[in-house]
Amino acid sequence: MEGPRAANNQELETILSLVNLVFRSGVNQDMALDYPLVFDKKNLNNLRVVLEKGEIISHAAMAERTLKAKDCVLPMSMICAVATHPVYRKRGSATSIMEDAVTSMALRGDAFGLLWTGPARDFYRQLGWEVIGTNGWTYILRPTQFNHFKSYCLVRAYQQGKDLNRIIEIHQNQSEQLTRNQSAYQTLFNIPTIKIWVAEENNLVSGYLVVAEAHNKSGVIEWGGTTKALSSLLAHVLSTTLETRLQVFVPSFKNPMKTLLQSLGCQERIPMEEADGCGLKMIRILSLKNLLEKLKPHIQNCLGKSSGELGIVVAETAERTSLKWKNKHFTVGTEQVSEEKTLTLRETAQFIFGPMKPSSVTSLSPETAKALDQVFPFTFHIGMLDYV
Ligand SMILES: CC(C)(COP(=O)(O)OP(=O)(O)OC[C@H]1O[C@@H](n2cnc3c(N)ncnc32)[C@H](O)[C@@H]1OP(=O)(O)O)[C@@H](O)C(=O)NCCC(=O)NCCS
Repeated sequence: MEGPRAANNQELETILSLVNLVFRSGVNQDMALDYPLVFDKKNLNNLRVVLEKGEIISHAAMAERTLKAKDCVLPMSMICAVATHPVYRKRGSATSIMEDAVTSMALRGDAFGLLWTGPARDFYRQLGWEVIGTNGWTYILRPTQFNHFKSYCLVRAYQQGKDLNRIIEIHQNQSEQLTRNQSAYQTLFNIPTIKIWVAEENNLVSGYLVVAEAHNKSGVIEWGGTTKALSSLLAHVLSTTLETRLQVFVPSFKNPMKTLLQSLGCQERIPMEEADGCGLKMIRILSLKNLLEKLKPHIQNCLGKSSGELGIVVAETAERTSLKWKNKHFTVGTEQVSEEKTLTLRETAQFIFGPMKPSSVTSLSPETAKALDQVFPFTFHIGMLDYV
């Protein structure tokens, strides 16, 4: 066995054959077109492979991103396209690739690793990954509902040369997002299975809708702008779709799309994880101290005026992290403190990211529970267009 190691220039085609065999058999789609930022030559260093007798038998990709959420800036990586050739399974190669990816993410200081999975939840769990709180809601709209949505604006197809900068401006005004440079926007907006619509008010683009028709992404996978623009865009898309249902992905926190759908009585919704193409959201803690330092703005926003301290020792890694808070000021250290808990990696992921409150993950003194149950779970939303 050779590897795990980063892929080289000559190996991209073979990797794509493997991941298309595993994830796209019988589906008229290509992983290279579905995930253009992942299977880009510039990302080769983040593609990990294991070989046997010179053949690539196992692969996993990392997609390095930065999440902006709740005043925090969180560099992180999403893991995707984890696959072992059917003939070579159960020999430990995917495990070794995942361990290698975790080491790489920790070395570069990522706040956490993130992935989505359906069938392989237990494979990841044995490696310390855990299912966390929901990523948001999926509203189900029916074509017959198109007349719920008033049309206030002119709706037309997106034109890259004319609209890209304005759409970037709208997207970057949203409260939570994965940051993208201009070329990443362009690449994602050129995915062949998506169509983009824009709404204009007084000759200015005031909203946009990204609609996907794909095996891995289906429905309104990104949107932005005013409620009037969103209403006009949905009226247009619903009146022209041939589908019997349209999924619309919406964060849990307050936002114009949720406000619009709720005000119009659209009640059919499911957690995002249950929607077509989504999967369970799983996290791997890399360094708890590093994560908590990056979450400091959010923690300080949420802490009351209490004071206290808690130590967490991560069972598998023996990393000891101390949290201290006083008068809305929060510090992270490594010293032993009076109240200390030993948590597994999976429990630590749930302590920070839910779905339950910290006091339901482990027993805490009443004062500590009161303070930290206001801070965690830290929930965040990743838009479907950024899913890998
Ligand atoms: C999941 C997958 C990548 C594992 O590859 P692999 O090289 O066989 O993995 P390993 O040999 O390192 O397996 C380690 C363990 O995980 C277990 N495992 C593998 N797939 C599993 C699954 N879907 N659910 C639960 N456990 C699983 C194996 O049985 C093995 O357990 P054991 O050591 O007790 O026998 C491979 O089965 C695969 O390509 N599956 C299809 C694609 C897929 O589902 N990828 C994940 C998408 S998010």
